[in-house]
Amino acid sequence: MKKITTNTLRKMKKSGEKITMLTAYDFPTAKILDEVGVDCLLVGDSLGMVVLGYENTTRVTIEDILHHTKAVTRGAKRAFVIADMPYLSYHISKEDAVRNAGRLIQEGLADAVKMEGGVTIFDTIQHIVNANIPVVGHLGLMPQSVLREGGYFVKGKAKEEAQKLKDEALKLQDMGVIALTVESMIADVAKEITESLEIPVIGIGAGKDTDGQVLVSHDIIGYYHGYVPQFVKQYAKVAEIVADAAKQYISDVKEGVFPGKEHTFVK
Ligand code: KIV
Repeated sequence: MKKITTNTLRKMKKSGEKITMLTAYDFPTAKILDEVGVDCLLVGDSLGMVVLGYENTTRVTIEDILHHTKAVTRGAKRAFVIADMPYLSYHISKEDAVRNAGRLIQEGLADAVKMEGGVTIFDTIQHIVNANIPVVGHLGLMPQSVLREGGYFVKGKAKEEAQKLKDEALKLQDMGVIALTVESMIADVAKEITESLEIPVIGIGAGKDTDGQVLVSHDIIGYYHGYVPQFVKQYAKVAEIVADAAKQYISDVKEGVFPGKEHTFVK
């Protein structure tokens, strides 16, 4: 079992082997996903919605991400672990941004950090890259902009917007970003970006032609009661399994069936 590095990811792109990425926020999930061979684990700020119960990701703090990154890196031996830079952790000053990114690497033991944004945060990204911190870019739909944009919208429909996305992707590569995620993007635009870059491009709701795919693990296992986007494929219904187990437990305790002899200490 060899640890996945930035180098491995680049080689996978070159050879055409698809890269798999799922979100993870805790030790047991990280361990399971790592052991079955998921290439990258993302401690996404989707944490705020699927684990912490917030309406959107803007409520998530650097302390939240750090806490969960520590748990994930304890469980991941092979996977490349990426920690999301949450809202306001890279917007106040470049110094603050480097310090926060550095904490995710030094204290959280992440392999890279991910940041949402194009031209408006180029300076900050460059500062972090210059500090030798591996950065994964994020273009297209950027959930941290939900309050300003007033919702979640597919990106790259208009010609000018598509061109801006392609230009920003190239610029991010030139700046030394190690990979790029593209979210909710017209598939042809994501394809063009993927073909124009040497760094791996990982898509979510961006069609099949990116170098890899990422999804929120709670969405694919059915462990979230909120809105499930159109681009998600659900492979299990874990919420139902949890509910059934809890119902059986309630019934067993109420009826005196649990604990049985085998669960009881006797002298
Ligand atoms: O926070 C997250 O889970 C993400 C993915 C949706 C890419 O950024």
